[in-house]
Amino acid sequence: MKGSIVFKKGGLYYLDQTKLPLNETYKECTTLSQGYRAIKELKIRGAPLIGVFAAYCVYIGVKKFKGDKKVKFFNYFDKIINYLKDSRPTAVNLFWALQRIQTIVYANTAKNIDGLKKLILREAKMIHAEDIRLCSRMADNGVNLIKSGDRILTHCNTGFLATSGEGTALAVIYKAHRLYKNIRIYVDETRPLLQGARLSAWELIKKGVDVTLITDNMAAYLMQQKKVDKIFVGADRITSFGDLANKIGTYNLAVLAEHHKIPFYVVAPLTSFDLTLEEGKNIPIEERNASEVRTVLNKVQITPRKVKVYNPAFDITPHRYIRAIVTDKGIINPPFRENILRVARGEGRKGE
Ligand code: MRU
Repeated sequence: MKGSIVFKKGGLYYLDQTKLPLNETYKECTTLSQGYRAIKELKIRGAPLIGVFAAYCVYIGVKKFKGDKKVKFFNYFDKIINYLKDSRPTAVNLFWALQRIQTIVYANTAKNIDGLKKLILREAKMIHAEDIRLCSRMADNGVNLIKSGDRILTHCNTGFLATSGEGTALAVIYKAHRLYKNIRIYVDETRPLLQGARLSAWELIKKGVDVTLITDNMAAYLMQQKKVDKIFVGADRITSFGDLANKIGTYNLAVLAEHHKIPFYVVAPLTSFDLTLEEGKNIPIEERNASEVRTVLNKVQITPRKVKVYNPAFDITPHRYIRAIVTDKGIINPPFRENILRVARGEGRKGE
């Protein structure tokens, strides 16, 4: 199978990311609760992929509906949407995709139940196909920010495991790699769930990119030694002011980048923007189980069993630390407040 999620012959399959890099195991998602758990337990993860997968999960859920009472069907459908919304709170792509499915269903209430089920599947497939295209547009738009020989630091996983295409920040990096062949990537471990060490390192090696792994606490020293030319990260939610939520540890890098005068770039599709929020402090931040910090991958205990733990999965990077945001609709430069709204409305730059 190819791709982090695959829909074929009526079945939804996903590459179980909790098993990587040691095992490449595809699993079939046959029930709604399996889909919910796959998202919650990070078997599938990454903001855009969560949205695409959730859209398919709605279909997996409604497929099971029996009967011909439309009122009951709509009740059932709304419950599915609300259930999936509860799986993870931070990446806005989840809510965006579910809203899109809900809008299309309520715009077609005249259809019969079978027709509505087909409509949901068709919309999920469209969201999937569009996500692939968004990735290549981000790569095209961002590649000129990278020069031959650049040494780039990245965080978490933003590649083909986090999206339906080649990724967000990693898609830009893959494109630059195909162009120059000589760029070098530092990826940090991204404790506690090691998306950098397990997933990005695996992806980058597969793609033939020169990658060096560091632990999270090595980034400052690396920058002090002038070993980093640029930083590229993704985003789980970007507000209209340009503040963003991304994997815990992103803010550390942004502050360090500012101090060391290293450009800090964010790559995200417009589906990751939440224009209902202005300031980053209003983004809901997921807090995860203490066992993720007390153990390595819920397997090896590394702390006293009862130590208190604080485990926020994301942090907020204020827009003032960001040099530019690469989107599928072009690069957004400061001032973000006005430029984000202009790009979101589909308008060109002033004078264009
Ligand atoms: O908790 P995760 O692994 O889903 O977090 C993923 C990230 O933080 C990514 O950087 C983000 O989704 C943006 S790029 C796809």
